[in-house]
Amino acid sequence: MSDIKISIVIPTYKEVQNIPLICEQVSSSLDGQSFEIIFVDDNSEDGSCEAVKNISDRIPARIIVRTEERGLSTAVIRGIEEAKGKYVVVMDCDLSHPSTAIQPMVEKLETNQNDFVVGSRYIQGGSFDDDWGFFRLLNSKIATWLALPLCHIKDPMSGFFAFEREKFETCAHLTPAGYKIGLEIMVKGDFNTPGEHPIHFKDREHGESKLSLKEQFLYLRHLRRLYKFKYPTVSEFAQFGIVGGTGFIVDSLIYFALQLYFGLGHNLSRAISFWPAATWNWFWNRTITFTDRKKTHHVTQWLSFITTSLAGFAMNFGTYTVLTSYVPFFIEHKFSALIIGVLVGMGFNFMMARIFVFKP
Ligand code: GDD
Repeated sequence: MSDIKISIVIPTYKEVQNIPLICEQVSSSLDGQSFEIIFVDDNSEDGSCEAVKNISDRIPARIIVRTEERGLSTAVIRGIEEAKGKYVVVMDCDLSHPSTAIQPMVEKLETNQNDFVVGSRYIQGGSFDDDWGFFRLLNSKIATWLALPLCHIKDPMSGFFAFEREKFETCAHLTPAGYKIGLEIMVKGDFNTPGEHPIHFKDREHGESKLSLKEQFLYLRHLRRLYKFKYPTVSEFAQFGIVGGTGFIVDSLIYFALQLYFGLGHNLSRAISFWPAATWNWFWNRTITFTDRKKTHHVTQWLSFITTSLAGFAMNFGTYTVLTSYVPFFIEHKFSALIIGVLVGMGFNFMMARIFVFKP
């Protein structure tokens, strides 16, 4: 059993200028505490190893250099796996996270106030440099809003977080992608009382951010996986609904094109446009919504999807007809009946897709 109290895990890529500075800052913030700093570097070849070595006789810091793998999230996982402290704190190397917050964050864990603590820009007392442009702020806010239902934390995007190391074992099936490893650990681990500590997020002075557009797309894919993990049915239904919405657009475009450019009538256009739209829906549900289901033969699956879609359409149309023929309220409010018909048809299609078409 190690007597190290706090392991600070820092992923690095080309941070040679920041390494000595963060070591000094952490060391002075944790004066008198037993701690270790673990850098996980992706073979920067910029002198990072030497920088850590030069400082390691005064400050307990070491560096793990990875040559086979790359990426912030997997680097963080590697660091946590190598950590020996009772508590793990993950932070960036670029000095944007104040090391003075480490101690109060760990205190929240020690006193059982929280079992996961995020260094937060967005709670009272938290802040960031005020030269963030409109688009950077909007980007950060949208990314944050998208993650809020997953964790009830105001700054789920933060790369500064702390938890008790033993709890890492409770994180089931991590699928790290992009930058948001803190969010994934919080969502997948057995954390019941996550909380936040206000920080001032300072823009980096040395080196460059590696947050690219690609990372932002990876974030969306990652979010999809996390929603699927936390709310499997709701997330399938939402994806099924989004695919259905795009299918409706395909259906309408073809329907109008057939009438406008080929002079076909309403019924024939309707009957033709159904097929490409249903095929579109089948393809994207196979590719996105139900990716983890059994991969049955394309033609068989397409046929069963078309069959259940036709049945769903009949349910939709039947509901509308019955409501507008026999229920006085809906005779007056046909649009409401139409919406109910669509929902009934969609609910039916969803159930059939889950149970019969895309078998578990
Ligand atoms: N090992 C390794 N491999 N480290 C990496 C890699 C990589 O591929 N990419 C980035 N890092 C390290 C950087 O060296 C830095 O220490 C830290 O990860 C954060 O990377 P930055 O590229 O500086 O991120 P950022 O400042 O743009 O983004 C920060 O803010 C976001 C919220 O606005 C990070 O803290 C994010 O985690 C945070 O979500």
